[in-house]
This record gives sequence, structure tokens and C-alpha cells, in this order.
Amino acid sequence: MSVIVPTFNERDNVTPLFQRLQVALAGIAWEAVFVDDNSPDGTSDVVRALAAGDSRVRCIRRIGRRGLSGACIEGILASSAPYVAVIDADLQHDETQLAKMLGLLQAGQADLVIGSRYIEGGSADSFNKHRAGASALATEVAKRVLRIDVADPMSGFFMIRRERFEQLAPQLSTQGFKILLDVIATAHGALRIVEIPYTFASRLHGESKLDSMVMLDFLGLVLAKFTNDIVSLRFLLFAMVGSIGLVVHFVGLYVSLEVLPVPFAESQGIAALLAMTSNFLLNNFLTYRDQRLKGARILRGLLLFYLVCSVGLLANVGVAFSVYNQQPIWWLAGAAGALMGVVWNYAMSGLFVWRK
Ligand code: GDD
Ligand code: MN
Repeated sequence: MSVIVPTFNERDNVTPLFQRLQVALAGIAWEAVFVDDNSPDGTSDVVRALAAGDSRVRCIRRIGRRGLSGACIEGILASSAPYVAVIDADLQHDETQLAKMLGLLQAGQADLVIGSRYIEGGSADSFNKHRAGASALATEVAKRVLRIDVADPMSGFFMIRRERFEQLAPQLSTQGFKILLDVIATAHGALRIVEIPYTFASRLHGESKLDSMVMLDFLGLVLAKFTNDIVSLRFLLFAMVGSIGLVVHFVGLYVSLEVLPVPFAESQGIAALLAMTSNFLLNNFLTYRDQRLKGARILRGLLLFYLVCSVGLLANVGVAFSVYNQQPIWWLAGAAGALMGVVWNYAMSGLFVWRK
């Protein structure tokens, strides 16, 4: 069995966790795969030191990527064991349940065993009021919108048959926190699921990485699964940033024409440059924050983004003209052009600017 441990700034937690795993899994063949997103606190050094003393420890260090779900997916796919578990590094999950989870899978009673806070015997008392409310609300939304019949689909603690996970993996989102919800929704009822209760403890050291952006990722996941992966949050964010760009463009054009003042052609150029720059920065900050470009890569990305958008503009105008030629309805032609432009910019940005 492989135990996947996603880590970001968990330097002080990984050794206690490893010691507890040793106790809880005595007599079982297991390994621990730590997936660290290049934590600035040097978590991977601590993991490597553990690995030097015990060959059951492995470390995957990811550079230029962030995200709990993506880290779990990479860790699971790096395993060759028949069963894989995911457990948080901060000791909030109950590692003593792992042997029981494994037993259920081995006995063929389930494909997926979930450590559940919201069934009889489980609890999440360590949550403050605010977080408890948010968790309950998100769980309700997920269950209703996606018709999921699991008490704790947002748990970060579970064990699954690797082969079943492998089948689902190509459709899973690497953004956000909710990998379990994604697995359940993507499987469309094809997994036999068993929940076992556990008590969600308090964090040992450090602090939670769950922020308001994670809420956004959650909504995106629900939306994507609800529309059968047709609409993604990334695309919606990209389109939203594009609309903000339109506003920036008009404000820039007005200021340049009226205040500076600069002739129309130059003003239009300035406004376009301004809008593309702000679109790039916003997309880097929001839409692609899990693979944010940093340092020297920003300039290169910006120049590529200019190029992508310039061609996108040609595509926009081209489509608008050809629609207008067939049917001279200005708004229809304009909308078709804009749609072409945003789809082009989105697809090409993903390929060239924020490529994986
Ligand atoms: N590699 C990697 N990359 N690991 C991450 C990242 C990341 O970007 N963000 C968080 N982690 C790791 C943390 O280091 C920790 O081991 C684990 O993922 C959970 O992160 P926390 O920041 O402790 O999350 P939480 O305690 O607020 O949320 C947990 O409980 C929720 C249930 O309410 C998680 O298990 C959630 O998945 C779960 O939904
Ligand atoms: Mn935690």
C-alpha cells in the first residue's frame, strides 16, 4: 500500500507523521510518498533525510506548480501498489484507521474507503464556527448539485484501489483541494464506497493553506462536473478577465484621447497594450494561479501573450466580417467575433503562455 502525503510548508509535521505511520502500519507492506510543491520551509529536505534512513519513504518535489489535488494525483500515479491512501501531513487525519481501510479494500467490500467526519462516530470538533459552517454548506451544495450520496465527499482522507483511480485520472482536475469529490463525481456511481468514521484533530504545527481561492476552485469543480466537463472555471475566469480588459481598454482610450491628448490610432494602440497587459497580470494572478509565472518568466509570458492576443484579434475581426457578410446583423457578427477571440486566446494561452 502507498500512503500519499501532500505537503506544503510542513517541515515540523512530516517526521511525527512518519513515526505514527510506522506504528499504525506495523506488519503491513507500505511506503510513504511525500509530494512537496517546493515548500520554502525546506520540507523536502526533511523528507529526504527520512528517506535516507528508511527506503519506504519517497519524495516527489514539484517545481512551478501548486495545488493539493494535483499533488495527490501525481503521488497516486507514482505508486505501483494495488491500494493507495491520501492523508494530510499535519496529523489532522487519523492514521490508525489506515489498516482498517486497507482491510475493507482487500476483502473486496469496497473500491474506495473514506475517512468520514460526518457519520456516526466521526467528528470535526476542531473546526471553528466559521469553518464548520463553510464546510457544511459546501458539502450540502456538492451533494445536491452533483447528486452524491456520501456523507463527507470533501474529506481529504481516503484509500482507493489504484487501478480504479487510474481509470478516472485523465478526467480529474489538478486545481483546488477537493480531489475526493472529483473522484466520486467523475466515477458517476461506478465506485463501491464505504465510509468509516474518524475524528478530525487539530493541526500539529504550522497553518492551513485553505484560503478563499480554494472556495473558487470548489465552485469551479462543481460547475465543471455539473456540466459534464463542458464549462471549466478556468475558462470562465479567463472570459471574465477578458471583459475586465474591455473596460480597461475603453478607459485607456478615453484618457489617451481626451486627457493626454494623443491621436486616435496611437491612443487605440496604447489602450490595447494596456488592456492586454492587465489581462495578462490578472490571468497570471487568478486564472492560472496554480502555475503562476514568476521572475524572468513573466516578461517572456507577457510577450507571448501579446502575440497570442494579436492573432486572436485578427481571428475575431475575420469571423465577425464573414458573419456580417452573410447576415448583416451587427451584434451577431460582433458576438461571434468576440467568442472566436476569447476561445482562441484561451486555447493558445494554455498552450504557449501558461503551458505545463
Ligand atoms: N503539495 C501540496 N501543494 N500540498 C498542499 C498544498 C499544495 O498546494 N496545499 C495544501 N497542501 C497539503 C498540506 O501541507 C497538508 O498536508 C494537506 O495538504 C492539507 O492542507 P491544509 O492546509 O492542512 O488543509 P485543511 O486542514 O484546511 O483542509 C483539510 O481538511 C479538509 C476538510 O475540511 C484537507 O484535507 C482538505 O482536503 C479537506 O477537504
Ligand atoms: Mn490541515
